[in-house]
Amino acid sequence: MLLELKELHTYYEESHILQGVSLNVDRGEIVCLLGRNGVGKSTTLKSIIGLVEPRSGQVVFKGRDIVGMPPYTIAKLGVGYVPEERRIFPTLTVRENLLMGIKPGQEGNGDRWTVEKVYKYFPALQARDKQKGGHLSGGEQQMLTIARTIMGNPEVLLIDEPTEGLAPLIVETVEEVIRDIHQHGTPILLVEQNMRVAVRLAGRIYVISKGTIVFQGTCEELNGAHEIREKYLEV
Ligand SMILES: Nc1ncnc2c1ncn2[C@@H]1O[C@H](COP(=O)(O)OP(=O)(O)O)[C@@H](O)[C@H]1O
Ligand SMILES: [Mg+2]
Repeated sequence: MLLELKELHTYYEESHILQGVSLNVDRGEIVCLLGRNGVGKSTTLKSIIGLVEPRSGQVVFKGRDIVGMPPYTIAKLGVGYVPEERRIFPTLTVRENLLMGIKPGQEGNGDRWTVEKVYKYFPALQARDKQKGGHLSGGEQQMLTIARTIMGNPEVLLIDEPTEGLAPLIVETVEEVIRDIHQHGTPILLVEQNMRVAVRLAGRIYVISKGTIVFQGTCEELNGAHEIREKYLEV
């Protein structure tokens, strides 16, 4: 198993947010963590990347527990993170934004991302090569955020609600980008509120409610689980 969360308990001060979250992502997978607003999805990703430190439990990545390591160390080990809020450098060009994603001193593994390769996968970004990040549309900024993260050649990619607030056509483009990155060989842990997006992309789905995993299974199994869908999901 590439990434394994074991019984994570995470707090903000005295609020007990994650109450024993366990999930895993293996090579070759797109896994979705699905749930309503405020149930602990972002906190789960932040607990993996080290932005908040779980009070107990383990995050095992490539066989070693990474809880307690600082975010830059975890990133360097190969965990890529695309946060909910799009983080681009508005005054840098698209190409410069991409170059900022390169991680120096990374271990070599043959098939690495370059700006030119990213442009093959994201032609919309290539068209904007010399434009400033701040001048891009919301959907393009989302693509740029994802593209910049893969420039660091992550071995697993965590993406927090990439389609939130985007028009349906742009949602499709972002979905394609996620599929392309997956096909390139990068496993993905995707956080979503939108069940339709989750079902279109993921092989396996976990549903989270109030800091607890209440369902895990395939898309077909979730489609058949009417009670779970009514109780814990929007659609
Ligand atoms: N920095 C923080 N300090 C205190 N409470 C927080 C903080 N971040 C999130 N929370 C609370 O933790 C709960 C889970 O938040 P979050 O993981 O962001 O949910 P989701 O991503 O599923 O919408 C919410 O009740 C939220 O208000
Ligand atoms: Mg969130």
